[in-house]
Amino acid sequence: MHVLVTGAAGFVGQALVARLLRDHDDGHRSLQALTLLDVGFPASTTGAARQLAGSIADAGLVRQAFERPVDRVFHLASIPGGTAEQEYELARDVNLGGTQHLLEAARAQALRGEGVARFVFASSIAVYGSPLPALVDDGTAPNPQMSYGAQKLMSEIQVADFSRRGWIDGVSLRLPGVLARPPARTGQLSAFMSDLIRELAAGRSFTCPTSPQAATWASSVPNVVDNLLHAAEVAAGCLPPRRSLLLPTLHFTMGELVHAVAAVHGAQVHELVRWAPQERIEALFGCFPPLRTPAADAAGFRHDGDLPTLVRRALQPL
Ligand SMILES: NC(=O)c1ccc[n+]([C@@H]2O[C@H](COP(=O)([O-])OP(=O)(O)OC[C@H]3O[C@@H](n4cnc5c(N)ncnc54)[C@H](O)[C@@H]3O)[C@@H](O)[C@H]2O)c1
Repeated sequence: MHVLVTGAAGFVGQALVARLLRDHDDGHRSLQALTLLDVGFPASTTGAARQLAGSIADAGLVRQAFERPVDRVFHLASIPGGTAEQEYELARDVNLGGTQHLLEAARAQALRGEGVARFVFASSIAVYGSPLPALVDDGTAPNPQMSYGAQKLMSEIQVADFSRRGWIDGVSLRLPGVLARPPARTGQLSAFMSDLIRELAAGRSFTCPTSPQAATWASSVPNVVDNLLHAAEVAAGCLPPRRSLLLPTLHFTMGELVHAVAAVHGAQVHELVRWAPQERIEALFGCFPPLRTPAADAAGFRHDGDLPTLVRRALQPL
């Protein structure tokens, strides 16, 4: 099996690649070739995989990734929400144009008779926008309010259409906030949730830009990797025709998250938090209603189970 991961040097990408390589070493020998595509790679990356450094906005580079037929694509590369809002043309070229190049390369492969790739697209709950209804479920209409969410939704539609035509076998997962992102700033507005867990777990004080009542959705990075890997293998018959899934995800308040960090790392955590709500952050990340995900549940996707488990898994080494 030849697996292609775009955005492989990113937060989720590194965790996914580490898991693919570990599973391979543990005897799951289906992985024969791994191609990683990103704008650059850390010097420390090992040479177990083929690395392609460059942009998915470059159609030629994307075609190179498909020189050997690809069986599974994990398309994670993207310009995040904050940056996409500031740099429209970059986000258009990468989030829309880059996705299109990948889909076209997969289509060309299928038309050459070299196999239909399972195409797992990392979409986002940003497709829902705001305000959200009292309950979000599989029937909730997307209503993106930022270019990033709009670009994710347009790409989902392309993934579904290419799947309908039989050029790819696609799955779009609407990922929630993924925890805990490393401290480096890369434009994600939701990074404060990761900071909260990491700083409090390390015994450092943290000023939270929401109220304790702010309610959100999130999953640990190992849980998201589990779901991406499941998406790569789940039978097409288990997927809805539109090929997009809202993932099972824990719904909790920031106050409950602090309690969970205290349950895992000690009661002193409560003394370390100061609440300083910012209107924009509260509006974007603090108004999430309960969610129901029967389609993804039935297809075998899972959330972290409970908040202390999410907190523990969020800081697990890769
Ligand atoms: N982390 C989250 O909370 C979250 C939530 C919802 C959806 N998602 C989606 O999941 C995916 C992975 O998220 P992440 O947190 O790892 O993001 P990330 O920003 O950490 O990683 C994205 C990677 O894409 C790469 N990239 C950017 N432009 C590129 C280009 N033109 N060509 C090739 N590579 C490029 C970046 O260099 C980076 O390594 C993204 O598509 C993101 O939109 C993430």
